Amino acid sequence: MTLWHGRFGDGRPAEELLAYTVSLDYDSRLAADDIAGSKAHVKGLTAAGILDDPEAQILRAALDRVADEISTGSLVFKAGDEDIHTAVERRVTELAGALGARLHTGRSRNDQVATDLRLFTKRELRSVAIRLHDLQQVLLARAEQVGDAYLPGYTHLQRAQPVLLAHHLLAHGWALGRDIDRLEDARTRMDVSPLGAGALAGSSLALDPRLTAGELGFATCFENSLDAVSDRDFVAESLFALTLAGIHLSRMGEEIVLWSTDEFGFITLDDAYATGSSMLPQKKNPDIAELARGRAGRLIGDLTGFLATLKGLPLSYNRDLQEDKEPLFDALDHMSRGAAAMTGMIATATFNLDRMRAAADTPFAAAVDLAEWLVEGGMPFREAHAVVGGLVRDALERRVPLGELVEAHPSLGAEALALLEPGVAVTRRTTRGGAGPGPVAVQLQRFATVLADTAVRLGTA
Ligand code: ARG
Repeated sequence: MTLWHGRFGDGRPAEELLAYTVSLDYDSRLAADDIAGSKAHVKGLTAAGILDDPEAQILRAALDRVADEISTGSLVFKAGDEDIHTAVERRVTELAGALGARLHTGRSRNDQVATDLRLFTKRELRSVAIRLHDLQQVLLARAEQVGDAYLPGYTHLQRAQPVLLAHHLLAHGWALGRDIDRLEDARTRMDVSPLGAGALAGSSLALDPRLTAGELGFATCFENSLDAVSDRDFVAESLFALTLAGIHLSRMGEEIVLWSTDEFGFITLDDAYATGSSMLPQKKNPDIAELARGRAGRLIGDLTGFLATLKGLPLSYNRDLQEDKEPLFDALDHMSRGAAAMTGMIATATFNLDRMRAAADTPFAAAVDLAEWLVEGGMPFREAHAVVGGLVRDALERRVPLGELVEAHPSLGAEALALLEPGVAVTRRTTRGGAGPGPVAVQLQRFATVLADTAVRLGTA
């Protein structure tokens, strides 16, 4: 029997209707939140004088029992169970008899599902944020461990200037920090209970949405019942925050793919975090990094697909909104698994510091230092740039070492030659937030402080 059979004739809903509209196979993930929502609603009904205490007690016990059955996997779903809300109510009615029929008083699945999904999303975003924080901690640990090791910094994927490896690692760490902030910020905005909005307009019964909001741990409750049942901004925002975090993982993934090639040779992945080839015995492949790169495409699809679902929907609830769950669940799953896999891979990888250093120790990497040295002697930068540019071109064309030309140049000479010594250029990046050992030491401390604060915010300290 459906929840809505009264209005309909004796015939059963068409098989095709059920097959097409059913959401139980995925929305059963909301079971625990659905039960929490129903328990709060029982409280609301009691406060409103619609249930007496013994009745409420029976309903609560039935809801607890259903929760147990769901967690042990013993709840048997039935053919008419359209969604998790229907399944729970059907089972409560089997257990509590006639009283079960009172559970849905003053409530609609419209405010119910919105409540469930907010509770669920608040919790799950927090757990993704915790995983991203774990990844930040690994980046910090690795950054501290590699000391003053350096590698080429790139622009246009061309070697540009040497940077500390710690600096490079923390660049990704700061991006993840913004992701955590966005997830937490979205959580704050979604902390509004829709329960009590009913189907769309509230109720004639003496139900108080503030009471159930408090019961469920929401910061506040809705101001407008139409908005309450039709608002899925929180899903869209969550998807954006998750997708951008996924894009950050994809960028890290791409670098690991490059760094683990023979051509770069900057990183060697631990065997446990790499895969082999079914045909080529010598292969060791960075599949986690590649999937972090590839899955970003799917996250973008989750986000844009859902935005398209929302576009043009009239107030208030429309069944289209059932399409909120699958993209959200997909994005949450991929982000939490992706972050965990990247964390393990980076924690266990070996950085090939000699290869990095050798790649960074080209005299050309110090070109700007030569120009800045001339600037310190009073030459306008544009002129200095042209002088050094000319030397570089000359060195390449005539195949002579840049150092020889520097030493012979009247404005440069032996003193400037010292700038080309291996390892010198990176030490000259001294400005705040720069890539050299001085500012990076400061940055490491600031990053560690931010991570400690984040742990407090996320409740993992
Ligand atoms: N399964 C539905 C959803 O996820 C629940 C709400 C159904 N409401 C309705 N009026 N049919 O949105």
